[in-house]
Amino acid sequence: MPIDPKTHPAGDTFPEPSPETKAHSDRLKHLIEDEINANGGRITFAEYMNKALYAPGLGYYSAGLKKFGKQGDFITAPEISPLFSQCLALQCLHIMQQTGQHTLLEVGAGSGIMAVELVLELEKQAQLPEQYLILELSAELRDRQQQTIKARIPHLYERFQWLDCLPQKPFCGIIIANELLDAMPVHLLKLEQNSVFERYVSVNKKGQFIWQDDAPENPRLQKIAQEIKALHQSLAHLDDKPGAPYITEVNLQAVDWVKSMADILDAGAVLLVDYGYTAKEYYHPQRSMGTLMCHYQHHRHDDPFYLPGLQDITAHIDFSRIARAACDSGLKVCGFTTQAHFLMAGGLVELSKDLDPDDIVHFSEVARQIKMLTLPEEMGELFKVILLAKGKTLSLPAFQFQNFQQRL
Ligand SMILES: C[S@@+](CC[C@H](N)C(=O)[O-])C[C@H]1O[C@@H](n2cnc3c(N)ncnc32)[C@H](O)[C@@H]1O
Repeated sequence: MPIDPKTHPAGDTFPEPSPETKAHSDRLKHLIEDEINANGGRITFAEYMNKALYAPGLGYYSAGLKKFGKQGDFITAPEISPLFSQCLALQCLHIMQQTGQHTLLEVGAGSGIMAVELVLELEKQAQLPEQYLILELSAELRDRQQQTIKARIPHLYERFQWLDCLPQKPFCGIIIANELLDAMPVHLLKLEQNSVFERYVSVNKKGQFIWQDDAPENPRLQKIAQEIKALHQSLAHLDDKPGAPYITEVNLQAVDWVKSMADILDAGAVLLVDYGYTAKEYYHPQRSMGTLMCHYQHHRHDDPFYLPGLQDITAHIDFSRIARAACDSGLKVCGFTTQAHFLMAGGLVELSKDLDPDDIVHFSEVARQIKMLTLPEEMGELFKVILLAKGKTLSLPAFQFQNFQQRL
């Protein structure tokens, strides 16, 4: 997610893609058009987003574009500072001590940088995991992770293993993911004049993608749509534009993913970091345009049809839905807090206490990183951390400043 406002000033125009990258996007566009035509003229937005992000060789995450960091489209916490992964490592240590499980599984590992810093910190603590497993949907990112890990920690490379699918039951260990759920395709709903529509994607005669609103066909989505409508109505007193259309997202894949974690996990925990809200905040009437966002070269905008394959498309997480899916499938919620509280209580202070204030360049760089990770107007409040466990209830220092799980 882009978080440096200087890199996307309001009113700035988007950089033009090169002819080759534009041709790449056009190929994906035609593939999606073919899919729409083969499906009788429309697909759900979740199907569109799935293709735009993950179509083999063409989707945003599947093709070879530089996605993370300054030359990419957005930056994530592990790319900002090793302190983020080091704090996660310290909390994994507590989970290891409380559960006796020492295997780690990271899902959606991006460039591989979090794995490197996390394992280095565990090595420093003399608690190297027996195995560090990675499950990554994108073949291109899997390659990049292997290169990063080989280059940065060749002596530990043997401990890493890439999985092609979820481990077979029973899996005992710690499952971690940063910004995984927000990269999963979402369905879009539109509430208007007491009706709920799903937003489908169609294509017009000029070959442009257009919205088509109609009744949701998926029975699960129909049920959730009615729940959201009831919640929205119960919050109507907060609405300063009563009766205006209201758009929101439903991430069915995230719910299924949490359920599949519960199914495979025999003992251990799931620690997830992502941006989002509790249901009451997520479905607040003032969020009438939803949370769908696109990132193109550090420009944030709301047009998911712009240059498919060249931009990230993402939606915030409804953590209440994640917590409910976890509880319904046999996991316990053991903590929920903001990233700032998690890091401050989870070792950030101790990890940075030996910094030399006389080394002004390094000191101010680390101070900048800490600000980005923790300030409320940066990532501190929007990003949340949730801990789910199978078996024992876990208690981590990182949730001891503030544990907001009652709000879920
Ligand atoms: C927004 S990126 C975050 C990358 C990294 N965790 C970070 O924080 O820099 C999302 C990552 O999740 C991967 N991904 C998305 N859905 C996945 C799934 N169902 N299983 C495994 N990986 C997935 C993407 O390919 C990508 O690596």
